[in-house]
Amino acid sequence: MVEKNSGKVGPIILLGPPGAGKGTQAKRIAEHYGIPQVSTGDLLRENIARGTALGRQAKEVMDRGELVSDDVVNEMVRERLGEEDCRRGFILDGYPRTPVQAGWLDGFLESKRAKGRAQCGPLIVIEMDVDYNNLIERLTGRLYCAHCGRIYNVITQPPRVDQLCDFDGTPLVARSDDRREVIAERLKAYEQQTRPLADYYAKQGQLVHVNADLDVDAVTSQVLRVIERSRGADMKSPSWSA
Ligand code: AP5
Repeated sequence: MVEKNSGKVGPIILLGPPGAGKGTQAKRIAEHYGIPQVSTGDLLRENIARGTALGRQAKEVMDRGELVSDDVVNEMVRERLGEEDCRRGFILDGYPRTPVQAGWLDGFLESKRAKGRAQCGPLIVIEMDVDYNNLIERLTGRLYCAHCGRIYNVITQPPRVDQLCDFDGTPLVARSDDRREVIAERLKAYEQQTRPLADYYAKQGQLVHVNADLDVDAVTSQVLRVIERSRGADMKSPSWSA
C-alpha cells in the first residue's frame, strides 16, 4: 500500500461537463492526498475578484458561457504548476478543455520528465459521466462560499444552516454563470470543444469513466479506487468518510 500522504499522485485530470461534480471531487481528492486542486475556473474567478486585467477580459467571456483563450489559460496553468506545492502531484479541474490545451499540457509534462523533474507519475484521466437532467438541477441549485470555496447545492448538498457556509458561516452565493441561458452556452461549449478530449485520452489508454450520477460519497469512492489502482495499491474497502 502506498501511503496517501507520500509519493507521487497523478497528475490527475477530472474531465466532465459543467455540473458533473469536478470541483466537489477535486477538493476531496486534494484533502485526501495533500496535493493541490488546480481549477482554471477558480483561478479566473480569483482574477475577476482582484480586478486584474486578465480578470476583466475573462469576465465578459465567462458571462457568455464561452471559453477563455487557450493562450491565456495555458500561461495561467504554467505559472500555477510551477509552484512548490505541485511537486508531489496535482489535480486539474476544468483543464484541459480544448485539444490545444491538451497538446500544451502533454508538452509541459514531457519537458518536466525530460528534465528529471518528475513531479508527475502516470497521467490519470477520469471522465465523470452524468445524466443531462442531473446537470441542470446541480447547476441551477449550486451555491458556494466565496471565502473558502466550498460548494453546496440547495437540493443535493444543502448547508446545515440555510444559506450559510458550514465551515466559516459566510453567506453563500450563486455563480453569475449559473443562469439558465449561460448554462446552455456552457454545455454547448463542452460538447463542441471539450468532449473530443475523451477520445484523445482514450486512444492513449489513459481514460477511466466513473458514474458521477451517484451521490457524492459514492463518486468519491470510485475516484479514489481509480487513483489507488493507478498508484499500484489496491484499496480493499474504498469507502469515503468526510
Ligand atoms: P469552471 O469553473 O471550470 O466551470 P465548469 O467546468 O463549467 O464546471 P462547474 O464548476 O460548473 O461544475 P463542476 O463539475 O466543478 O461541479 P461542482 O462540483 O461545482 O469554468 C467556468 C468558466 O471559466 C468556463 O465557462 C470558461 O469560461 C472559463 N474556463 C475555465 N477553465 C477554462 C479552460 N481550461 N479554458 C477556457 N476557459 C475556461 O458541482 C455542481 C453542483 O452539483 C454543486 O451544487 C454540487 O453541490 C452538486 N454536486 C456535485 N456532485 C454531486 C453529486 N454526486 N450528487 C449530487 N449533487 C452533486
